[in-house]
Amino acid sequence: MLFENCVAFVTGANRGVGKCFVHMLLESGAKKVYAGTRNLDALRYADQRIVPVELDITDASQVTRAAALASDTTLLINNAGLNCNEAALAAADMNAARTEMEVNYFGTLNMIRAFAPAMPAGGAIVNLLSILARVTLPSMASLCASKAASLRMTEGVRAELAPQGIKVIAVLPGAIDTDMSRDFPPPKIPAAEVVKATLAALDDGTHEVYVGAMAQQIAAGLVRDRNATQSSLASAN
Ligand SMILES: NC(=O)c1ccc[n+]([C@@H]2O[C@H](COP(=O)([O-])OP(=O)(O)OC[C@H]3O[C@@H](n4cnc5c(N)ncnc54)[C@H](OP(=O)(O)O)[C@@H]3O)[C@@H](O)[C@H]2O)c1
Repeated sequence: MLFENCVAFVTGANRGVGKCFVHMLLESGAKKVYAGTRNLDALRYADQRIVPVELDITDASQVTRAAALASDTTLLINNAGLNCNEAALAAADMNAARTEMEVNYFGTLNMIRAFAPAMPAGGAIVNLLSILARVTLPSMASLCASKAASLRMTEGVRAELAPQGIKVIAVLPGAIDTDMSRDFPPPKIPAAEVVKATLAALDDGTHEVYVGAMAQQIAAGLVRDRNATQSSLASAN
């Protein structure tokens, strides 16, 4: 299995899905996990196999430092993300749209550009996107745009890194039960389901992982009738 004995780097490791990745990777046999966090005081890990790393993925110098410190990384989990819950036009200004693009798109790309050159053949990169990379929920339109941009970037990076023997996968969950979706109505899947599906995909070679019934139904709807599926979301909150 790809993640057994791996050295992983998880961004946004202090809470939510990132924290779950740290624990489940170690349970699955990872040798070491670098835990990237903006605030080292927010990390409460006692396990010696966990190496805390101060990291804001939008800060180029911190990303460069993290890549140098963690040059033995074989599995990069780009989990850190931001949802400002803003529509495209109703938002007071463009700040949310710019910040989401800065974190979700440019921050993720920063990480890949810094880590990929040292990554060995057989390594892997996971980009935590969202089913909202494939459709637009109007009340979160700028988040959707940033995740859609990241999906296109993931496809480009996958092609560029294939000759180096590095696998690149996109994870597209529906709503997850974390702080980010605190105000989103149920059903929400547990973070552990996202991690489990990601680890399974690393094993079986799936490129795009649709996690949970919501994501799988939307993905199937897009194949059947793209316009009807997008229209059904136009009136949702
Ligand atoms: N929750 C959902 O319903 C849902 C659905 C689909 C996809 N996702 C995706 O899943 C991933 C994990 O989200 P989550 O649900 O675990 O959300 P969360 O609980 O809000 O956690 C977000 C994590 O990202 C970190 N982060 C934000 N901006 C960062 C930056 N500039 N640099 C470094 N770290 C940063 C946060 O750090 P701080 O603690 O410092 O803020 C936090 O650790 C995200 O990419 C998200 O878009 C979530």
